[in-house]
Amino acid sequence: MINDIKTEIKNKIKEYFDNKYDNNFEIIIEEPKKQLLGDIAIPTFGIVKILRKPPFEIANEIKEVLKDTDLSISKIDVVGGYVNIFVDRTKLAKEILVEALTKNSEYGTNNIGEGKMITMDYSSPNIAKSFSIGHLRSTMIGNSLKLILGKCGYKTYTINYLGDWGTQFGKMIVAYEKWGDLDAIKKDPINELTKLYVRFHNEAESHPEYEELAREAFKKIEDREPKYLKLWEWIREESLKESKEIYEILKVNFDSYRGESFYNDKMDAVVDELEQKGLLKLDSGAQIVDLGDDMPPALIKRSDGGSLYITRDLAAIFYRKKVTNFDKILYVVGNEQKLHFEQLKALVKKMGYDFYDDIIHVNFGLYLTNGKKVSTRSGNVTRLKDVLDKAISMAYDQINEKNPDLSNKIEIATSVGIASIVFADLKNYRGLDIEFDLDQATKFEGQTGPYLQYTGVRIASIIKDSKIDLDNIDYSLFEKENYFELVKLVGDFKDVIIGAAKEYAPSVIARYLLDLASSFNKFYASEKINSEDEIIRNTNYALAKSVRIVLNEGLRLLGIKYLEKM
Ligand code: ARG
Repeated sequence: MINDIKTEIKNKIKEYFDNKYDNNFEIIIEEPKKQLLGDIAIPTFGIVKILRKPPFEIANEIKEVLKDTDLSISKIDVVGGYVNIFVDRTKLAKEILVEALTKNSEYGTNNIGEGKMITMDYSSPNIAKSFSIGHLRSTMIGNSLKLILGKCGYKTYTINYLGDWGTQFGKMIVAYEKWGDLDAIKKDPINELTKLYVRFHNEAESHPEYEELAREAFKKIEDREPKYLKLWEWIREESLKESKEIYEILKVNFDSYRGESFYNDKMDAVVDELEQKGLLKLDSGAQIVDLGDDMPPALIKRSDGGSLYITRDLAAIFYRKKVTNFDKILYVVGNEQKLHFEQLKALVKKMGYDFYDDIIHVNFGLYLTNGKKVSTRSGNVTRLKDVLDKAISMAYDQINEKNPDLSNKIEIATSVGIASIVFADLKNYRGLDIEFDLDQATKFEGQTGPYLQYTGVRIASIIKDSKIDLDNIDYSLFEKENYFELVKLVGDFKDVIIGAAKEYAPSVIARYLLDLASSFNKFYASEKINSEDEIIRNTNYALAKSVRIVLNEGLRLLGIKYLEKM
């Protein structure tokens, strides 16, 4: 909201200067951290040289321009070279509260994405391997971005590009044929298959020839030998169940599950096109495309004819462009694939398509525990599902202690447990590696998901079902610092969402919600919300309700459930 005022001020000043001088220059508008000197400040030092006037003269000129406008401004001071502006808090508070309380969960909804289509590739686990923590990150970030973009009016099409093709299936088949027990697998497919996969890796250490067997087995799948193709299909189906279990818990779903195998018959056309366009080069038996001095060439076809990850992605992107006609395509994938996506972009460009700039690698960092990378590969790390279960049971214990009479404790503990894990991830800027600490993440205080849920619940328990009367609010209370600070934050919600959408960064919303919650809790500690005075109480309730609306909707955008009780 305050941003809208800033934009309007900027436009007014720009219009004035554009008419008067023909210089083109940027006006800087700041929001000082300390509100003593004003809510908005315009320093003029940067334009002194251009206008050849002393700063205070320019500042006074600006003051004149802004004086008689219909902007929500209550006072303008010129101090040195600064124009200090005090917004009309009463008017602003009213705008914000009325909008938040009437729009409710629609508050913050905007249309910056109207008419635009964003195709998203996320989660994308390599099935027949355990669902890794990296894929969990991709799932949570992707899911949140889908919700955020939807809130901004974008249409989205979400793809789980399953890693359902590759030597891991060969390994699985070798392991199955050597040690598999069909009955056991049928009973508990995910666990048994995981065990087989781990066993393969352990035994292959002393039997390097198993790797060769695995390659051969996979070759048989690629050659479509019916028996092997069937085994592949079966393993694919069963492995997918593990991922689906996690999606079920997190309430995540996709528009498409077309994985790597879907593109088996679509790569030749791409290779032909590269050939026709004269881009393919033979390099010791392999087919490559040179991508200039800035990056290594892309390996399109192996010397043994085997297909490659990048070739598949190339086939996939053309297919997706055709089918979804995206304005942008997002790949939510770890930092370690940075080069891969740079190459993908460069290839599309080289092939003469102009949509290469619409390819966005939404990268993210690693999960660390005690500074070391977490990996599920070796099998000695607990399964993700177990981590989720553990978080849920830790949440249960706390709820049980705080509120033993709650009726649906398990359901609530599930939401709180998931909130712990999801929030511990999303509060960090995605590009960074993050240290994961389950004890910390499940706490009801501190920068956690449960803390935000708890703040929402606290507000609900204050307001209960009291009716809030929007015509009975004392807006002059918002002249006070603590009232104004809080309502101003509520007013920032839309801009925060837009900021998150532009940076593809859910953390922008997560950090904002932490600020909002702590600002509310400060307010709660300093004001008697349940005032005896009816108007003050109604005003406080309206403000608290607006905070709750934002918390609820903000949490929803992160993929976290808000609660009525906990
Ligand atoms: N399955 C891949 C991996 O785990 C991620 C796929 C990402 N998406 C893509 N279109 N390349 O490394």
